[in-house]
Amino acid sequence: QISEAEVALFSVSSYACQRRTTLDNHNSNLTDALSLLAENAELNNEDGRGVAFRRAAALMKALPTQVISMSQLRGLPCLGEHSLRVIKDVLENGVSSEVESTKQSKRYKALKILTGIFGVGAKTADRWIREGIYNLEQLRDSGQTLNRAQKSGLEHYDDLNEPVTKAEADAIGEIVQKAVDSVLTGSQVALTGGFRRGKLTGHDVDFLITHPEEGKEVGLMPKVVAWLESQGFLLYQKTTRNSYLESKDGPARPASNMDRFERCFSIFKLTKGKEQETASHKIWRAVRVDLVVSPISQFAFAVLGWTGSKLFERELRRWAGHEKNMSLSSHALFDNTQNKYLRATSEEEIFAYLGLEYIPPSERNA
Ligand code: CTP
Ligand code: MN
Ligand code: MN
Repeated sequence: QISEAEVALFSVSSYACQRRTTLDNHNSNLTDALSLLAENAELNNEDGRGVAFRRAAALMKALPTQVISMSQLRGLPCLGEHSLRVIKDVLENGVSSEVESTKQSKRYKALKILTGIFGVGAKTADRWIREGIYNLEQLRDSGQTLNRAQKSGLEHYDDLNEPVTKAEADAIGEIVQKAVDSVLTGSQVALTGGFRRGKLTGHDVDFLITHPEEGKEVGLMPKVVAWLESQGFLLYQKTTRNSYLESKDGPARPASNMDRFERCFSIFKLTKGKEQETASHKIWRAVRVDLVVSPISQFAFAVLGWTGSKLFERELRRWAGHEKNMSLSSHALFDNTQNKYLRATSEEEIFAYLGLEYIPPSERNA
């Protein structure tokens, strides 16, 4: 039995953007379980369920101490019936039976393996599974037509499923900086994504590129990509151009959460340091890299939008819409009440417009 004194009652906001979520998680046994169910829901295209589990996991990540009893969760937001059932199972039995059976299931295993291929999403994986394809060998034998991204993904499967270290991210940062310096002096490169939040590893490396003089950034991406290609740094790249200005639904209300910056999904060929050389004597590894170019006038919004975490971003937009009648994107902030755009040159200004306490990147790990 737990005495009253041991029952900590937490007071936590229902919005992840009002919480400070660092990387030290006191409840990883619970968040691992909830995150796996979120992932499984996403892999099955059950988006509502996925978000519900993500929000529950994020709430548990933000708690200042380890939870040992259900009574400590009284009054907390974001915990639905299903999430509470999973938490109870873990607290009482050490594991969640639903998580265990999901992990063992043939379908979950196949979805993980197949979506582990760069360029393969949940829908493609589902189609393949319905055709009896559960692993890479069966995929290779099936004679399925693969697009350019998927071919590259399959070819570099092991490398791309190996976490990228901060040291590797920094090495790639130096290459990207050299590339932009070579094609347009004065260009700036910012590391975004998980590494900006202080993570020690990631599934890719994200960079945002801009130039202090508005307009100079136009046409920059193809030049950067051409330089990287000429130096032999790219194993794969697909550049999509900026569709922000020509979009007809207006900048404040993008049709989806996808932004419309000029961006490049790529796979870098990174030469390993002596220490990282493996028994296979392969002297390089493949690394996923995302490059995005933003005009300086949108840079603060782009940095905020590309730093993540994904749930933190979702919650910022939910807060803006529901609590402030504003529309936030990676391009701009629009105030629907005043019917005008709110300009900002720093993330701090954006949080201030939104009436939120500033949360630094290291505390956005929701
Ligand atoms: N993002 C985006 N549009 C996309 C893809 C990603 O705006 N089409 C944003 C996400 O919202 C996130 C950031 O880019 O804020 C980084 O995404 P991603 O690299 O997927 O996640 P990380 O947090 O960097 O995690 P990891 O370390 O695994 O890469
Ligand atoms: Mn990333
Ligand atoms: Mn990314």
